[in-house]
Amino acid sequence: MIQRLRGFRDMYPEAMRARRIVFNKICEIALEFGFHEIDTPSVEHLDLFRVKSGEEIIKQTFSFVDKGGREITLIPELTPSVARMIASRKDLVKPVKWFSFPKMWRYEEPQSGRLREFYQFNADIFGVENISADAEVLALAMEILDSLGLKNKYVMRVSDRVLMENILKSLGIKRVENAFYLIDRKDKIPEDEFYESLKKISSEDSAQQLVEILSLKGEPDKVLSKLKDTERKNTLLELRDLVKAYSKEFILDLSVVRGLAYYTGIVFEAHDAKGELRAILGGGRYDNVVELFGGQHTPAVGFGMGDAVLEILMKREGVWPEEKIEVDFFVAIIPGYRKEAIKIATLLRKKGFHVDIELRERSISKQLKYANRINAKYTVIVGDEIKKNRVTVKNMETGEQRLVNIDDIDAIIQP
Ligand code: HAM
Repeated sequence: MIQRLRGFRDMYPEAMRARRIVFNKICEIALEFGFHEIDTPSVEHLDLFRVKSGEEIIKQTFSFVDKGGREITLIPELTPSVARMIASRKDLVKPVKWFSFPKMWRYEEPQSGRLREFYQFNADIFGVENISADAEVLALAMEILDSLGLKNKYVMRVSDRVLMENILKSLGIKRVENAFYLIDRKDKIPEDEFYESLKKISSEDSAQQLVEILSLKGEPDKVLSKLKDTERKNTLLELRDLVKAYSKEFILDLSVVRGLAYYTGIVFEAHDAKGELRAILGGGRYDNVVELFGGQHTPAVGFGMGDAVLEILMKREGVWPEEKIEVDFFVAIIPGYRKEAIKIATLLRKKGFHVDIELRERSISKQLKYANRINAKYTVIVGDEIKKNRVTVKNMETGEQRLVNIDDIDAIIQP
């Protein structure tokens, strides 16, 4: 047997059903927030990601040369494609609020919460310069996690690249991009290694000061009071107040800078409260990407959330939906009544129920056993009584069985 590739998943119906419940909930909340769904290609020119995503993500692409000699790749993220969509339509009414839930691919080392193929929910707002859009996407991200049963089980960590850039410059660190890249890797590499690399782009004294600043986390007011820079203070406090108006809270954590190169302002990541897992989601403001793709200057802010860490965390907290298949009705057939049974199944399906029907020719006891295995709520047995417009309905949970007129059959349960 040819095995599955590493970092890829087969999704059996039980697992897929649970996932679908979670995905639907997420999309429902995006719709509640007035976002509209879009879709983009799964394969793009590799150059699309060379524009602004950064070296790290290019290294992780599943890229290849196609039969026409083009350098193409499976998408490792969605942001450049969405920015291109915005750039190529001048007629869009701003602000634009879009969401999408595609599969994507990254050639990373598979590990807990990191796969080579995963789903990533994306939500972005285009065309809003001020912090109200940052607050709206942060609130959306937190509302999604709260609604999935993760309230108090995660921490939303926010930082600001402008603030961080000012800090780096004041410490005499000129290679800001290098510093961001390094800071993003801080928790993934040993402390000494981090410190040594930092010293290569700054003085020893600055390196020490920076390590101290990076350890600042907590209530925004408290963290900001420890910093000299006040330029961004009001923006960050306003963000805190707006997010509070949504009844949500975040902490300011200056060690969050994010790996992708295009962020220009607020950046954020949600982590499980116990700090055991990789980031649940990440995002931020990227005001220059749309114009890089030939569009007008269009400020943007959004986030991406994969399904892998989310699943691990929801399972750990006991809020992942039960992984089981289920139907409302199983239509069992007494020999000779298949056509009548098909009519009953059709009637129930038209009413919106999930209905399975016997396709083999098993004994009634075997059919009932099967109905149990597929977690049918009711079994409808079609036999002789159909001549009087009646069927036997068995409640599979209680075992109770009764004759029901087919006109009343849908009253048994609501879809
Ligand atoms: P990112 O931090 O690269 O950002 O990914 C966002 C989220 O996608 C991560 O927090 C994680 O949930 C999930 N993710 C990333 N890589 C993997 C992987 N190998 N396996 C499983 N899950 C993964 C972006 O992609 C940005 N484009 C997000 C964004 C949208 N920023 C603004 N708008």
